Amino acid sequence: MSEKATIKVNDNGPYLVKGEVEMVDAEGNVFETKKAFSICRCGHSSNKPFCDGTHRKVGFESEVRAD
Ligand code: FES
Repeated sequence: MSEKATIKVNDNGPYLVKGEVEMVDAEGNVFETKKAFSICRCGHSSNKPFCDGTHRKVGFESEVRAD
């Protein structure tokens, strides 16, 4: 049995995905991913859908908390 995958919403940064997942585009094409990777949340990455660190340069601010 595989370990449960997690998605962490980082403060002022990307979603950090860990675990076995399959990420697909709108047409169902599979993105090649690693065991851990980050998905852009700020919208400024040059490597979408992945984070390339640009959120730090643009001063992206978002601190999401579960209720
Ligand atoms: S969240 Fe990192 S580049 Fe957008």
